[in-house]
Amino acid sequence: MNILATPLLTAVHIDAFKKILGDAFVFVDEESLDTYAHDETENLFFPPEVVLKPRTAEEISAILKICNKEKIPVTPRGAGTGLSGGALPHLGGVVLSTERMNTILEIDERNLQVITEPGVITEVLQNAVKEKKLFYPPDPSSRGSCFIGGNIAENSGGPKAVKYGVVKDYVLNLEVVLPSGEIIWTGSNVLKNSTGYNLTQLLVGSEGTLGIVTKIVLRLIPLPAYDVLMLVPFRNLEQAGEAVSAIFRAGFVPSAMELMEIDSLKIVSKFVDSTAIAVTEDTAAHLIIEVDGNNIDVLMSEMEAIGNLLTQYDIGEIYFADDANQKAELWKLRRRVAEAVKLIGYTIEEDTVVPRAELPVLIRGAKELGRKHDFEVVCYGHAGDGNLHIRIRKEGIPNSHGNEEMNAILKELFILVKSIGGTISGEHGIGLIQKPYMNIVFREANLRLMREIKKAFDPNNICLLYTSPSPRD
Ligand code: LAC
Ligand code: ZN
Repeated sequence: MNILATPLLTAVHIDAFKKILGDAFVFVDEESLDTYAHDETENLFFPPEVVLKPRTAEEISAILKICNKEKIPVTPRGAGTGLSGGALPHLGGVVLSTERMNTILEIDERNLQVITEPGVITEVLQNAVKEKKLFYPPDPSSRGSCFIGGNIAENSGGPKAVKYGVVKDYVLNLEVVLPSGEIIWTGSNVLKNSTGYNLTQLLVGSEGTLGIVTKIVLRLIPLPAYDVLMLVPFRNLEQAGEAVSAIFRAGFVPSAMELMEIDSLKIVSKFVDSTAIAVTEDTAAHLIIEVDGNNIDVLMSEMEAIGNLLTQYDIGEIYFADDANQKAELWKLRRRVAEAVKLIGYTIEEDTVVPRAELPVLIRGAKELGRKHDFEVVCYGHAGDGNLHIRIRKEGIPNSHGNEEMNAILKELFILVKSIGGTISGEHGIGLIQKPYMNIVFREANLRLMREIKKAFDPNNICLLYTSPSPRD
């Protein structure tokens, strides 16, 4: 539902957009508006008044100049795979899609860098650099469909983050169109930079609220030659959480360390029709552990040592993925959990993150909350980073957004997260629907600084999300 009764856009605006983009890339038909009214966050629906599909930074600049002058809300959008409501045009106005800006401009093999437009699918970019034996590690579960520009906006992570870091660790420089229409580069294509405030990193994770990224320079690393993957069943969920920090304390740095509670496995196995992981009744959770590097013997002995370490816990038989197919099958199960649990009524994917050793406290707390409030709770995610996705479900409640009962339990969860030194988003961003909880993790002074930064970039408040009150109230 659009909260605005009267559209602000007029035929004059639409004509002006058509002059910039050509008729073919300005959409006002109902089908297009409906398509761009939602992302992957719950079942929310906010149709924009127009969808624009520019090809160049100059076109975006011309569009933003009009929107800034007329105070028309603009929601930048990548592939629409976001999980925090960052691409929902909740005040109507313009959706500005980057889908036509989909060229990898240059793979610089001399400097191990890639320059790309924002509408390139993350996995396409990864495969393109892989052909040159180079590696761009950040790999959100949606990497087969999400855009690299959206990953910049959210500072995305994924399983590899535990060893290789998240998007911010690879971004060197960005071309950005500011809400005023000015086009800037935020930094330089260099590996070190102490020159002034770090505008590049300010833009990373800014969720489209400070400007629209039109070119991206990423650093790359050499592609590791081998990886080894194993699956460890635990009979106790909290023990799986404890084992995670024990592995790092023992000196290992896995290239992935993922947790899947048994319910998440049952649901996704059914969803993708796979029997790759046997669902045994006495298993509470699995850890997926991967190591990578250039010496296969070293990797095998590391895995053996990790396996030995884990015998101090109540575990079942460890399963090694022997070939590429088995690995792909395990990863498919892990990567498709989010879709599978959403489909059967679990609401927003919480993106809680705590110091790694506090993971068992978070798991225990989440489960207790579920029992106390009579909600189903399922946990999975990037355990090695202390980044646990928690989803809750109760019959008859389709969305957490706007539901008081859900909001109360989420608030309690986030207060717990804060009390153990964590925060509310590790890789999905705040978006529309986590915004009400920002004051749990930040003081008013933090929020004031953020508002001032927003004002400096976007004085007319046209690039949405943190808009409060909205320019149209
Ligand atoms: C995951 C994404 C969806 O970890 O956050 O599956
Ligand atoms: Zn995740």
